[in-house]
Amino acid sequence: MKSYTVAELLSSETLVQEVIVKGWVRTFRANRFIALNDGSTIHNIQCVVDFENTNEDTLNRIGTGAAVSIKGELVESQGKGQKVEVQVNEITILGDADQEEVSKTILQPKRHTLEKLREQAHLRTRTNTFSAVMRLRSSLSFAIHKYFNDNGFYYMHTPIITASDAEGAGETFRVTTLDPQNPPLDEEGNVDYSKDFFGKETNLTVSGQLEAETYAMSLGKVYTFGPTFRAENSNTSRHLSEFWMIEPEVAFMDLAGNMDLAEDFMKSVLSYILEHNPDDLAFLEDRLIQEDKSKPQAERSEMTLIEKLRFVVDNNFKRVSYTEAIDILRNSKPNKKKKFKYLINEWGADLQSEHERFLVEKHFKCPVILFDYPANIKAFYMRLNEDEKTVRAMDILFPGIGEIVGGSQREERLDVLKEKMAALNIPEEELWWYLDLRKYGTAVHSGFGLGFERLVMFATGMSNIRDVIPYPRTPLNAEF
Ligand code: 4AD
Ligand code: MG
Repeated sequence: MKSYTVAELLSSETLVQEVIVKGWVRTFRANRFIALNDGSTIHNIQCVVDFENTNEDTLNRIGTGAAVSIKGELVESQGKGQKVEVQVNEITILGDADQEEVSKTILQPKRHTLEKLREQAHLRTRTNTFSAVMRLRSSLSFAIHKYFNDNGFYYMHTPIITASDAEGAGETFRVTTLDPQNPPLDEEGNVDYSKDFFGKETNLTVSGQLEAETYAMSLGKVYTFGPTFRAENSNTSRHLSEFWMIEPEVAFMDLAGNMDLAEDFMKSVLSYILEHNPDDLAFLEDRLIQEDKSKPQAERSEMTLIEKLRFVVDNNFKRVSYTEAIDILRNSKPNKKKKFKYLINEWGADLQSEHERFLVEKHFKCPVILFDYPANIKAFYMRLNEDEKTVRAMDILFPGIGEIVGGSQREERLDVLKEKMAALNIPEEELWWYLDLRKYGTAVHSGFGLGFERLVMFATGMSNIRDVIPYPRTPLNAEF
């Protein structure tokens, strides 16, 4: 007798005489109807127990949360709400779930807040919302690898422990095996990292970009997709201390090519889930529609989740220079009425998320690519423009998310890069290998980083980044 997943049974074209299906009981009602889920789909399969011929003890053990194995027949359903159901011939309890204990957890079938679900993150994928989000997360990962593989990119693994701070923002987590109580000291009384495990100061990577550049300058088109770590103390709904980043890097590609790549890539992965995950998207769309009903009219979304995804796939991203964006912001209503927390007065101001969201949600109402930023608000490695004031940087802003992608054309000229590093006090010895790329066959090259969780947020409509990664790491929180 064959084992089937719930997804297989529900999409089966033919009725099957004998099936085995294993899963967890979502609900058991009237001593007769089990709603069974095994994670293969958002939908449950109804399993009908012949309670008159099932022993009392077994019946008592069928409860929410229990793991069961069911043998039965796949038949047309008599009731409403499902086409097929399983007529149970034999049920085995694989793992009990004490109903008294269950009632204290989020397994209890009722509405729980997202905060509550976060506290029981090890159980939350037993709920519809989280199973849908995590299936979409998996599907998006696959779509990302597929896109790059189909387009001639090589997948490379960049180191997680590094000695560099690629973004130069000083927000790294130190990696050390020194005894914090009693570290070795040098003559000046400072911690002597030459005695540390790697013989120097090391940290968790903030980005694989610098190493990816070395591979782009030999393999041509590469990408990384791995965990990155930032010790930013920002407790927002869009920041994690550990997040996953996708970073393509391409030789002989300029900033315009980089924008084309990023746009095509984002559209492709979102199309993939529209095609392959319709049930999960429909569930999450409905969830948002229900949520909207409790909001005042003005705060409700104009588009449903699937409409938003289609909109991104079907429309061109708006490309706007930083300078144009500043003009728009300076003359905007919230700026004139002093509604922004940070008012935009002059060229050179760093854009805050309130400004990004104004541009993308209120002004353009579509994804926006901002480019050619002032050099002094961006990282050291970006290609200086001929105006010597701006760099060939780009950020992609998405509605409801703000910045989702950050990228640039890289400075390929050795002398200019050295000057830039000197100005920022980045020692050449630390990045000698990075400088070597500019000595041996340097060339124009570009790349970008996409924050994976921000993409999953957009794709699922979840509004807190903690709800799109299995076990979020944020300031003061590393549970599980
Ligand atoms: O803009 P960022 O800092 O760019 C880089 O790291 C470049 N080295 C990328 C490159 O050119 N290869 O980060 C890229 C993206 C951001 O746009 C954002 O989506 C995401 O990473 N990101 C975060 N996501 C979650 N939590 C955080 N703390 C994040 N910081 C950045
Ligand atoms: Mg950025």
